[in-house]
Amino acid sequence: MEIIRAENYKHMSVLAAGIICRQLLEKPNSAICCPTGSTPKGTYEQLCLKRGSIDMTWASFFNMDEYTLLNEENKNSFNYFLNQNLYEPFNLCESQINRLQYPEDASPARLLEYDERIVKKGGFDLLILGIGSDGHIAFNMPSTVFSAGTHIEKLSAKTIADNARHFSRGERVPEHAVTIGMKAVMSAKKIILLISGTSKAQAFKKLVSADVADPMFPASILHLHRDVTVIVDAAACEE
Ligand code: PGA
Repeated sequence: MEIIRAENYKHMSVLAAGIICRQLLEKPNSAICCPTGSTPKGTYEQLCLKRGSIDMTWASFFNMDEYTLLNEENKNSFNYFLNQNLYEPFNLCESQINRLQYPEDASPARLLEYDERIVKKGGFDLLILGIGSDGHIAFNMPSTVFSAGTHIEKLSAKTIADNARHFSRGERVPEHAVTIGMKAVMSAKKIILLISGTSKAQAFKKLVSADVADPMFPASILHLHRDVTVIVDAAACEE
């Protein structure tokens, strides 16, 4: 696991966008799995600034997760986020995008089909991850099953509380999500893990000191992957 210490959020985002650009230059038909949330937003912004020099025509994209019962028009849905921050700015065709949606993708056959699509690509060429304050990656919560494929996950109380900031007062914060599993995470050829802000400082510390793959701290399994780059900003490195 390589750890790159960025000066701040913007620096972390610039570095991450640079890795994505290099990936697309080296392999234009890369399969890239994309997260949502406050952490990767800046990375997409930096990518958009380079729009003129990036060709995404041959690449394919996989949504990493999605809340249950939020459709694409809902501003808190991850489909909406990726449409706004990546797919529409780059004018991607729907045929390049692999979406997770609930309840459409809730049947075991549909979940399996998503994994088959990932396997057909030979696994993700690049997987971009954030981390939850409880150590979740994608929406694989503490007590995760490391061999799991794409599945429906009950979100931890900590994650629901963390996510509440995105929802208006009175709006119900989803308690379940459909997410890629750890099997797809670990089969990615390259992983970038972005960690930003003081609220993630404990998670970063715990990740660095983890010496076993602990299902109660899902990100710990990344120590067993051969190509993980962690880009952490100064705020998340603070004690
Ligand atoms: P955040 O979410 O980037 O909005 O903090 C990270 C995550 O839950 O994986």
